[in-house]
Amino acid sequence: MKQHIFFTGFMASGKSRTGRALAERLGRTFVDTDAVIVERAGKSITDIFAQDGEAAFRQMERDIIAEIARNEAPQVVSLGGGALNQPENLKVIRESGTIIRLWASPEILSERIGRKNTRPLLANLSDEERLAKIKTMLKEREPIYAQADFSVESTNDATETHVIERIMHMLQFWKSHALDVRPSSGGRYPIFIGKNITPDAACLLEGLRLSPNYEFLVCTDTTIAKAQNEMLRELRGQAGRCPIFRFQAGERNKTLHNLNQLFSFMLHRGYTRKSCLLQFSGGVVGDMAGFGAATYQRGIPFIQFPTTLLSMVDSSVGGKVAVNHPEGKNMIGAFYQPQAVVCDLATLRTLPENEYLAGLAEIVKYGVIYDEEFFRYIEQHIDGIKRHDDETLRHLIFRSCEIKAEVVGIDEKESGLRAILNYGHTFGHAIEKLTNYEMFSHGIAVSLGMRVAARAAVLLGMLDEAAEKRQNALLDALGFVKTFNVDKEKAWEAMAVDKKAEKGARVYILPTKIGEVKKVVNVDKDVIAKAWEAIR
Ligand SMILES: NC(=O)c1ccc[n+]([C@@H]2O[C@H](COP(=O)([O-])OP(=O)(O)OC[C@H]3O[C@@H](n4cnc5c(N)ncnc54)[C@H](O)[C@@H]3O)[C@@H](O)[C@H]2O)c1
Repeated sequence: MKQHIFFTGFMASGKSRTGRALAERLGRTFVDTDAVIVERAGKSITDIFAQDGEAAFRQMERDIIAEIARNEAPQVVSLGGGALNQPENLKVIRESGTIIRLWASPEILSERIGRKNTRPLLANLSDEERLAKIKTMLKEREPIYAQADFSVESTNDATETHVIERIMHMLQFWKSHALDVRPSSGGRYPIFIGKNITPDAACLLEGLRLSPNYEFLVCTDTTIAKAQNEMLRELRGQAGRCPIFRFQAGERNKTLHNLNQLFSFMLHRGYTRKSCLLQFSGGVVGDMAGFGAATYQRGIPFIQFPTTLLSMVDSSVGGKVAVNHPEGKNMIGAFYQPQAVVCDLATLRTLPENEYLAGLAEIVKYGVIYDEEFFRYIEQHIDGIKRHDDETLRHLIFRSCEIKAEVVGIDEKESGLRAILNYGHTFGHAIEKLTNYEMFSHGIAVSLGMRVAARAAVLLGMLDEAAEKRQNALLDALGFVKTFNVDKEKAWEAMAVDKKAEKGARVYILPTKIGEVKKVVNVDKDVIAKAWEAIR
């Protein structure tokens, strides 16, 4: 978690009171940006606006926020109402700290404001008029508050104990479980990784729930709905006992037709643009409902709660969402980023072993393409991996997401670097296609594809045999299948229509050592035919 803590929220939501109490608890300095402006200008904010204009006030505010951001010592800051509305401020604040929104019901806010009657915008109004005006203002300002990392209710607890404890708990939750993803197109979202973290992830929903009329819908599949009944109930409870939509489980159901059923369900139930999808699922429903979120009424937010190892380390990260078409896998889709990803290790408890292995293939892939040290970690933790040890799994998922996020952060739309994530996939897809997607799950096919790709690299003199052996020994130790007898001619044809093939060129991602791969174009057909021998 980054250093400074910034509070945002409506007037009388307790930003100064809570900010001061938190600063004291953390042994930090407290700064109220409005108070600093008043002190420096030597006049009230009303006078600055009247005499110098709003532009002068905003400039002073920008200067103070920039000063805070530069300050090495972490501070607790109460922001003025319009601070987050300025893109320049928002960028600086996001990069230097955590934003907490304090909220209270309009009725509580009205009662607090009425008691003091010192707020110029709401002074001298009747109770009814004040409440109505607060509700209107809250609605207008909602997009500003939605920038917060999390929201905490500011109760009327005079000692602040409850509010401070909640904030401390959430800060700790972020510190120990969150990884920040910054796609190259801008924005950012957190991935939370840990065991039994779904209840704490409720804070993510709280921010959206505060927007009036926000509605949730959980999407899952029929198999997960049975296996993870309890966790699903927990999630649904947090989302205001919202409905659950169940797709039929399985890759062949990842179709536009089935997605349309979701759209019909949502339209019949009156889901508006103020809706949020919660995918409690593996990659199939994650991709499909993610594409649904990207297109329903031109785009609504979604949060991924991946339930397979593969979806935790791969499909939930990076913003690719899609459905299949009879002409090819994932052919109809979009790039669309989630609000957040919540990887709760507790959901893996019911995952079948072959699906677990499928996720491990992608994890090994990250080691081969990007990080020799991570590859070594996997080699040294075979036992823990086989026992599904929590700490080992946490590290595997964390580092895999970090690598994918790093690659995607540099190249979100696959114009260059992102292609390295396809290591093993070109050969793997050919295997999947030749076996009608029925014999091997995607991950297992990729593991075979990695063996073929490594052999092709050896044949081209790019990789030494020892590195090929090292990769394959790790796959063997994890229990991956070693052989599959392909029809080389058919495989060659299958690879020609691979989505990863660039126009007129066949592209291969091949290793040069453990921890590094290169894009190679148009490898000789004979070399590819020989490379298939690696899995004979
Ligand atoms: N978007 C991307 O960047 C990306 C990357 C890789 C893969 N994918 C896609 O991901 C999909 C594969 O994802 P997947 O491997 O998660 O498959 P999946 O979603 O089909 O899940 C695999 C099986 O496990 C069951 N399951 C899931 N979680 C379970 C749990 N906790 N307990 C018991 N059973 C459970 C499911 O019902 C299903 O039968 C493919 O469609 C692929 O195209 C997308």
